[in-house]
Amino acid sequence: MQLIDGKKIAAEVKQEIKKEVEQLVASGSRKPHLAAVLVGNDGGSVTYVNHKVNDCKEVGFESTLLKFEDSITEKELLEAVHNLNQDDSIDGFIVQLPLPKQIDEAKIIEAIDPEKDVDGFHPVNVGKMLIGLPSFVSATPSGIMELIKRYNIETTGKNCVVLGRSNIVGRPLTNLLSQKNIPGNATVTMIHSRSENIKEICARADILIAAIGKPEFVTADMVKEGATVIDVGTTRLPSDKTKSGWKLTGDVKFDEVSPKCKYITPVPGGVGPMTRVALLKNTLLAAQKK
Ligand code: GUN
Repeated sequence: MQLIDGKKIAAEVKQEIKKEVEQLVASGSRKPHLAAVLVGNDGGSVTYVNHKVNDCKEVGFESTLLKFEDSITEKELLEAVHNLNQDDSIDGFIVQLPLPKQIDEAKIIEAIDPEKDVDGFHPVNVGKMLIGLPSFVSATPSGIMELIKRYNIETTGKNCVVLGRSNIVGRPLTNLLSQKNIPGNATVTMIHSRSENIKEICARADILIAAIGKPEFVTADMVKEGATVIDVGTTRLPSDKTKSGWKLTGDVKFDEVSPKCKYITPVPGGVGPMTRVALLKNTLLAAQKK
């Protein structure tokens, strides 16, 4: 069994981005600039956004954090998005999800200029990605594809099973893995909470991607000997063994599944760090396009 070290690969990618930023600046351009919009005080969202801001510093980007109260109206948030669209000093921005109930997330995403949509959530970017045109690809699928590439994991002709159908992970990943590309060229099955015979389908996978959001859902009997398992789960479970009072738990029962695997990602330290660098890559791309 070999552990897929997302932390190590993410550090390598960050160094590559840092060098590109230095070249960009040396050629007379300004630093890439990412803005993040944070609404409310959700613990997870605050942590993720702070990480994104710190990542920017590490690679030499400018960053701007815009914080709003939970009570913000949809109109006010749309106005903030509009201002960011118009602001030439900002290359790309994200609106951290989830948003409070009074706000229609789809409306906010659709208001983002696709050229600045470094999350790759806008329907224009999703559509371009779907037909293999250059686009901003959302961070988690993009980070997973990069891990598969850098570990030279064969996908051509392989049986890939994607467990989960979310718009930001399962659905785009299913498409990317099936595209005429390397990595890609796979035979992909997407399954979800309503699928029948989940265990049998998973057990046929050469590459199993667990993105269902159910802690330790994937057990040893669902994994073929020699499979590659990518764990996208990030559920915070209460724990009395950590300072924070919670423990990040993946969708895979790591202890019993890992001995059967050729490759497996740990949680934390697998997909998570790659997701963060994928956002940086998109922001660099947005800046280079200018
Ligand atoms: N919430 C959870 N993941 C993400 C992400 O990748 N982008 C944004 N904007 N919100 C999220």
